[in-house]
Amino acid sequence: MAEANTLEKLVSLCKRRGFIFQGSEIYGGLTGTWDYGPLGVELLRNIKNAWWHDNVTTRDDVVGLDSAILMNRTVWQASGHEGAFTDPLVDCKTCQSRFRADQIAESACPRKPSKHPGEFADCQLTEARKFNLMFKTFVGPVEESAAMVYLRPETAQGMFVNFKNVCDSTRVKLPFGIAQIGKAFRNEITPKQFIFRSREFELMEIEYFCKPETSQATYKEWRDRRFAWYQKLGLAGENLRLREHEKEELAHYSVGTSDIEYKFPWGWGELEGIAHRGDYDLKQHIKSSGKDLSYFDDETKERFVPHVIEPAAGATRATLAFLCEAYAEEMVEGELRTVLRLKPRLAPVKAAIFPLVKKEGMPERAAAICQDLQKHWAVFYDEKGAVGRRYRRQDEAGTPFCITIDGQTAQDQTVTVRERDSMQQQRISADQLKAFLIDRLSD
Ligand code: GAP
Repeated sequence: MAEANTLEKLVSLCKRRGFIFQGSEIYGGLTGTWDYGPLGVELLRNIKNAWWHDNVTTRDDVVGLDSAILMNRTVWQASGHEGAFTDPLVDCKTCQSRFRADQIAESACPRKPSKHPGEFADCQLTEARKFNLMFKTFVGPVEESAAMVYLRPETAQGMFVNFKNVCDSTRVKLPFGIAQIGKAFRNEITPKQFIFRSREFELMEIEYFCKPETSQATYKEWRDRRFAWYQKLGLAGENLRLREHEKEELAHYSVGTSDIEYKFPWGWGELEGIAHRGDYDLKQHIKSSGKDLSYFDDETKERFVPHVIEPAAGATRATLAFLCEAYAEEMVEGELRTVLRLKPRLAPVKAAIFPLVKKEGMPERAAAICQDLQKHWAVFYDEKGAVGRRYRRQDEAGTPFCITIDGQTAQDQTVTVRERDSMQQQRISADQLKAFLIDRLSD
């Protein structure tokens, strides 16, 4: 996906085909919010399901959690977010706009002609000041500081504050992880690049607890495993890179952090951070809550505070990366074909079922096949228009297989299966369809 205007084309496809809409669109929108339409919600869910399956369901050492979005304010004081989860901000007293102080060179003054903030003679930029990214709201009917809570900016703290609950209620033994998928909210100063940086988004996070002495090796294992996961799901090698943070970039408690970055149409951007957080978080909550969050090792009879490795991925940001990677345009027999080459596992609709024509019992046979497959997968029935047009609509939606019921089906119970990427067709027996799809969709 090399062309500069590909993002524009993708945004247009997402709206046209019901992947992603601007939030509150009929009221002029709400900046930094996005709504996932019928195809988008399936794609996002497939990404989250793939993550959960590969990191929780199929592992003996990771358990799941779904903690509340609203948490006691003290959680965010202990974690350091209330004091330090900030971006540097400058105001312009002339145009009343706000900019991130560290992104002035990439920001645009809203006035015309297009210039950077500070470049008009009458620009009046203030000194940079810290702007906390957490959204505030109030519990109960009184809007006073005692009732103030934050919408969580990450899911991680839910896992730290439940560390003891999980240890006490399950048989987990170190090393083990707690995983969570959920919404997070950040009052980003400059939400941008479609769903890349939004104010409401979804995270997929793991807190993996281990002994201090094994933590370096565990950090490297997670870093490499998470990188391989994106490759397995279709992000090409040259568009993916692992960037180890320099010492100066590390948070004061961090022993090591790597970012998995994807080459978006505008350049490299972070998909996931894998951080070695030491024992910082649990120790902060021990100090602040007064509760014992240490771990007792039955074998060595030692008590200690575990170290933690945190792979923190953006689900909505990953959705954009998979869409960017999948988007392709090509000329086919003199016509432009737009296709989303999503891995079948991620595709919103797995198969489309077409009767070739609306007669001779074909719609009935197609509907029966559709109902049968629908018990297992998201499939789509379409009998409208020329079959070539129906293929094109499914190509744009990323549907990997189109199944056509034609005149021959009544004679020998075979159907044609057309594969999205190669556009090759093959005839297979209708009673083999399920086995065929199981085989192809497991990849
Ligand atoms: N608990 C660690 C944590 O939250 P983070 O690097 O701030 O780490 C993790 O966020 C991931 O969340 C990022 O790698 C990115 O994929 C995604 N993310 C962060 N801010 C985002 C935003 N404003 N919009 C969409 N995704 C975002």
